[in-house]
Amino acid sequence: MTILVTGGAGYIGSHTCVELLNKGYDIVIMDSFENSNPNVLKRITEITGKQVKAYPIRLLDKASVREVFAKHNIEAVMHFAGYKAVGESVSFPLKYYRNNVHSTVILCEVMREYGVNKLVFSSSATVYGAVNQVPIDENTELKPANPYGRTKQIIEGMLQDLYFSDQRWSIALLRYFNPIGAHTSGLIGEDPNGIPNNLLPYISQVAVGKLDKLHVFGNDYPTKDGTGIRDYIHVVDLAIGHLSALENVQSSTGINTFNLGTGRGYSVLEVIAAFEKASGRAIPYTIEARRSGDAAICYANCSKAKEQLGWQATRGIDAMCKDTWRWQSTNLNGYEEVTKRNKTNV
Ligand code: WQD
Repeated sequence: MTILVTGGAGYIGSHTCVELLNKGYDIVIMDSFENSNPNVLKRITEITGKQVKAYPIRLLDKASVREVFAKHNIEAVMHFAGYKAVGESVSFPLKYYRNNVHSTVILCEVMREYGVNKLVFSSSATVYGAVNQVPIDENTELKPANPYGRTKQIIEGMLQDLYFSDQRWSIALLRYFNPIGAHTSGLIGEDPNGIPNNLLPYISQVAVGKLDKLHVFGNDYPTKDGTGIRDYIHVVDLAIGHLSALENVQSSTGINTFNLGTGRGYSVLEVIAAFEKASGRAIPYTIEARRSGDAAICYANCSKAKEQLGWQATRGIDAMCKDTWRWQSTNLNGYEEVTKRNKTNV
């Protein structure tokens, strides 16, 4: 039996593929490689010693999706594929609704045609929007503040409706907080296109000299040092959480939502200090105006995942920064050369 991983060459998908292979699962990947690097597949093999079968297709291409299901005896699906840049989603909402929502409809239609009804879905804490109480639990009202977050909310609702129409389905909706870090091998990690939107990849590029300084978006929030607080979770902890969710959907039917975070928050200034310690590099920064749409504080109540999945994050901010630095300072630059070459060869 095989696990299909859509978006398996992406940041969280690739780390999950490593954990699946290490656990002895057979996997097959579908990835359009629009926002990921085919070299990741070689790196996954280098880490695990196992070959991976990958299909360079878009989920919107239903005939190609069907071909993969026809060729492989798929037992369950881990669905990571999707666009995830908040700012881009504001500028190009239709692109996000079509890609994220419609491709999930197609995926579920083909799953149903082939009698596959076990699904782990990559959702996001962005569905909560700016909350006024922390820690956030799964019953918190959903008020996504951007089209990207709304696509995740719509997909969650669609999967709820799918389950209620056919209760043979078994679905886990995983709401990630702020995934950061990289595999300890330094061979895979976050590889954002262009100037990073998110804090850690931006800091990491300042540390390696690609960017000259960090712009801290506001230091007048009602927090310990005035800067924004988030629940950063190591991407390997997150990947392991997906395996716990997979075991859950394999052993039951139903639909369940789980927060995947650490349950504690770090401020921007605390993350800067942790990264300076991990990298031995100074991170120059200036204080700027708040970024619109940012919440002051956001961190998870993860007790449901602990009780029902038997999972909790174990890696702290120091490991997240150390692993990010190893990835950035050893391998990511090599990647960029390859990516540039790949893009010019396309
Ligand atoms: C973290 C903190 C910023 C950049 C986003 C997406 C969310 C999810 C995770 C996909 C905030 C501050 C940031 C910078 C800064 N992605 N910051 N300077 O906004 O919590 O969540 O990534 O699911 O959808 O919204 O993460 O890393 O952008 O910001 O000061 O250059 O760092 O203000 O307090 P965020 P982030």
